[in-house]
Parts: sequence; C-alpha cells; structure tokens
Amino acid sequence: MATPSATSSLGGLAGRDLLSSADLSGVETADLLQLAGDLKACRRRIDLAGRMLGLIFRKASTRTRVSFSVAMARLGGQTIDLLPTVTQVDRGEPIADTARVLSRYCDALAIRTFAQEELADYAHWASIPVVNALTDHEHPCQALADYLTLMEAFGSHPADLAGLTLAYVGDGNNVAHSLLLCGALLGVNVRVGCPQGFTPELAVVDQARSLAAGRSSVEVVHDPVAAVRGAHALYTDVWASMGQEQEQAERAVAFSGWCLDESLLSEADGRAIVLHCLPAHRGEEISAGVIEGASSRVFDQAENRLHVQQALLAALLGGA
Ligand code: CP
Ligand code: NVA
Repeated sequence: MATPSATSSLGGLAGRDLLSSADLSGVETADLLQLAGDLKACRRRIDLAGRMLGLIFRKASTRTRVSFSVAMARLGGQTIDLLPTVTQVDRGEPIADTARVLSRYCDALAIRTFAQEELADYAHWASIPVVNALTDHEHPCQALADYLTLMEAFGSHPADLAGLTLAYVGDGNNVAHSLLLCGALLGVNVRVGCPQGFTPELAVVDQARSLAAGRSSVEVVHDPVAAVRGAHALYTDVWASMGQEQEQAERAVAFSGWCLDESLLSEADGRAIVLHCLPAHRGEEISAGVIEGASSRVFDQAENRLHVQQALLAALLGGA
C-alpha cells in the first residue's frame, strides 16, 4: 500500500522524466494523486508563470493535448505546439540536436509517439523533464487519472485504493501496461483479461508483480467473466490502437465475446465503476448502455487527466 508522505515526496520529482509509470515510487504516485485532488478541490494554488511546455505529438489526441494545454494555462504557464511535420524533425534533424535545442527554449516536453525508444532518446538528450504522453508501450498520465477516479469512487485518500480490484478487459496494450504498473505501486489488485495472443508483455507483468511486492495481486486471465468477477472497476480500451488500423478487422474477430456489456458488468462488485480512456467504439469493446449507464465514470476520468497533469507538471517543474 502506498500512503502519501507526511512531508510530500514531490520535491524529489523536480527535473525528472516520466517515461513509464514505474519511474515513480509508490509514495510519489500517492503524493501526486493527493496533490491532484487538492488542486481539483482548489485547496492548493501553484504558480508556473513564465514556464513553457513543448508538445511533440506524432499521433492524434483530444484529451492529452488539450488537458496538457489547459493544465499549463491554469498554472500560469504556456504550451507550444512542436509538430514534427512543422519542425525540422521530419526532415531528418537528429533527436540529439532537436532535444538539446528545445531544452534551451522550453521547461518540459510532453511527447506522444510510437516507439518507447524514441521517447527515451529525447529524454537522454534533453536537459529538461520529458513526459510520456502515450507511446505504443505505455500511457502513464492516463493511469494516474484512472486511479484518481477510482480513489474518488471508493474513498478520498490514495491509501483508500489499497485492496480494491481493477479488472481490465481487452487488448494487453499501452494502457493495460501502465494500469498494471501504477496499480501495483498503489496497492490495487490488477486483473487483466484478454484473448490468447493479446496479453500484456510478460516483462511488464513481472515488473508489476515485483512493484506490488506481495501487497496486492497481478493476474492475467483469458476468460472475461473470470477477469471481472467481484471487481471494483471494469476498464476497457479499443481493440485496435493507433498504428494498428490495418488490423482492425482481424482484431474484431479475435475479440469477439470481449465486449464490456451489461452481462459482464453484472459479474462485478455491485458498486463497480466503469472506466475507458476514450476514444471509445460503442458496440465493439464497450456497449452503448454500459458507457452511458449509471456505473460509468468515463467523463470524470477524462476530466481527471487535467488535474493529475497539473500535479505532475508542478512536481517536475519544481513548483509542488
Ligand atoms: N485517453 C487519451 O489519451 O485520449 P487522447 O488520445 O484523445 O489524448
Ligand atoms: N490504446 C489506445 C489508447 C488511446 C488513448 C491507443 O494507443 O490508440
């Protein structure tokens, strides 16, 4: 179980990168959720006036781009769009040069791209914090918002998350990876249910087990009902992620029977909430009735991107 520290650990995050959920300790993760909750309730004010966040997005985004921009604006700072097609990056300027130059203008970079290695390359060369705004491998900012939403549904403090069970059903993708790692840090039992061939990477599952250190469980199962039984949160994501569009049809076949629908929801704890990182495909990975139903918290979850990213930016830029 990760309890927020009496004197916040967040000072230690100044200048660091967030490439993976596992880059944070359990205490740092809990302290970030606590700060996000305080910012959301207007119990804290943080001033990042004059600070600039660069946004390098190689994939589409509604929530992440807008919530990062609004987060910086609310903290008194600004963002600048650094589309690779507009900068010299797509004309072949090396990341080593780009990252060092951008470090002279900006105070942090939020990067959405395909390969985790590209993100790591930016982080290696930049002298400012680099944040993973989604790669094919992880989506750590999403997981922070997801666990803040779970915390709000079942308590008011990060310690209240310990012992809850989050069941993710569907593709063992970037979102599943970050949920596994972040959940393990917070003492949440994480169960991933997926068809054979779509499991999360074994190395990530092992890493989550090691982070959980026996305090919570990390399970991968191949039956949707077994995955969700008794869970406090049911979570799903698209079957074909960005970059997998050409696999859409074959994935629809492989995931048949894995729709998060009313029948699956009835197997969960009676108080269970439904989460989805969005964008969602109604009638595929989730039924329209479930995403629009009383258990759904997907719009609170989307809002919470804003609050956790304010907390994260404040911490990385030394303002927390
Ligand atoms: N959940 C999420 O990251 O949404 P976007 O792709 O719209 O940023
Ligand atoms: N797994 C999805 C998440 C979108 C927020 C994707 O990578 O497209």
